[in-house]
Amino acid sequence: MDKEQSLIAPSILSADFSNIREDIRLVETAGADILHLDVMDGHFVPNITFGPKMVKDIKQITKLPLDVHLMISEPEKYVVDFAKAGADWISVHFEASVHLNRLINQIKELGCKAGVVINPATSVDILDEILPYVDYILLMSVNPGFGGQKFIDTSFKKAARLREKLVAIGSEAMIEMDGGIDLSNIKKLKNSGVDVFVAGNSVFGSGDPTKAISEMKKILNS
Ligand code: DX5
Ligand code: ZN
Repeated sequence: MDKEQSLIAPSILSADFSNIREDIRLVETAGADILHLDVMDGHFVPNITFGPKMVKDIKQITKLPLDVHLMISEPEKYVVDFAKAGADWISVHFEASVHLNRLINQIKELGCKAGVVINPATSVDILDEILPYVDYILLMSVNPGFGGQKFIDTSFKKAARLREKLVAIGSEAMIEMDGGIDLSNIKKLKNSGVDVFVAGNSVFGSGDPTKAISEMKKILNS
């Protein structure tokens, strides 16, 4: 994957679960780069979605790399199951991980890209010790738990500060952002240093996912 390239990661949270095969086919054909899968446990976040079985089934119907965002307590108990199910990228929340360095190494040993996620109110400064070990950092630009929320404006500066930190240590890690991303903010986010753009509502809630993705790509490449 070219580091300079911007990646679009549709989040199936806003897709129609009863028609998931068709929804995934649409975004894959439209040029999505990876597929973002939100795992929620009703404990770390106030919502429940799905577990490894869903990841395993989706793996059978798409060639897109699967980007599994674990919004769960005690993620160390489940990373093996998600890796076995076919996750290509696995991210765990800083706020939910007690032994984060060990967990990041474990995810890499399982053959996956390893990411750490931080909530909107968590500062990028707490990442200093883990940055040299991660493949990507996922910055939440909404409070995790639900699709279709409003983008939190301080996220632009947060991405820019993180990019400075990565440059300072010579890290190739990617910056992913998640929550409230749409045509109005995607270009400014790219200019702030974001590489991977998660989009749920603005893709699947748009009525025309194909058009939504092609417009995002056009803006990113403009
Ligand atoms: C929210 C999830 C997101 C969500 C983003 O907790 O982590 O991935 O699907 O959805 P939108 O793009 O609708 O904000
Ligand atoms: Zn997510």
